[in-house]
Amino acid sequence: MTQTVRHVLASNSAGETIAAGVALGSVLGPGDVVALTGELGSGKTVFTKGVAAGLGFELSNLVTSPTYKVLNQYQGRVTINHFDAYRLNGPGDFADIGGDDLLGGTSVSVIEWAERVAQVLPPWTVTVVIQVLSSSGRELEITFPESRKELAGVFAGLSPRDSESRSSK
Ligand SMILES: Nc1ncnc2c1ncn2[C@@H]1O[C@H](COP(=O)(O)OP(=O)(O)OP(=O)(O)O)[C@@H](O)[C@H]1O
Ligand SMILES: [Mg+2]
Repeated sequence: MTQTVRHVLASNSAGETIAAGVALGSVLGPGDVVALTGELGSGKTVFTKGVAAGLGFELSNLVTSPTYKVLNQYQGRVTINHFDAYRLNGPGDFADIGGDDLLGGTSVSVIEWAERVAQVLPPWTVTVVIQVLSSSGRELEITFPESRKELAGVFAGLSPRDSESRSSK
């Protein structure tokens, strides 16, 4: 099994979660995949907005459609595929919406409810698990393979939940 690097961050507001997403997005590039897990309203979309902003997408251009969409695309310095897998029943559904063709490639993919399509995630996926601690308190657990350990520096300046869990192998 590949070794993983793990960072646990505290967030006390939507703004702090956006900032964590911006930090990550600013170092992502073509082919990267971010898998988000967390209950309804935990902040997966908030984090995704940060990632998109970190990838150079102008957040003021965001059109929030009232109708549910499984896939939204934003144009930053690369194309960002924003998947919401909530209503997908596994890898077959993901392939049907064109997900397989978009993962990897030249774009960056961010997937909400990623546990529903766990089988399609490549080994270099950056995983973010969001826990709700209180109305505005969240814990963000970010893991990625040792091969991406250059990402670790990104989170150094953000508020760690505690020092011993900042990085473990
Ligand atoms: N620390 C925090 N981080 C992120 N969001 C927060 C925080 N504190 C409060 N919030 C609020 O929680 C809500 C998170 O909503 P968001 O749509 O991002 O959740 P979600 O995980 O994408 O939900 P869904 O499963 O429905 O897609 C927003 O209203 C946001 O303002
Ligand atoms: Mg969401």
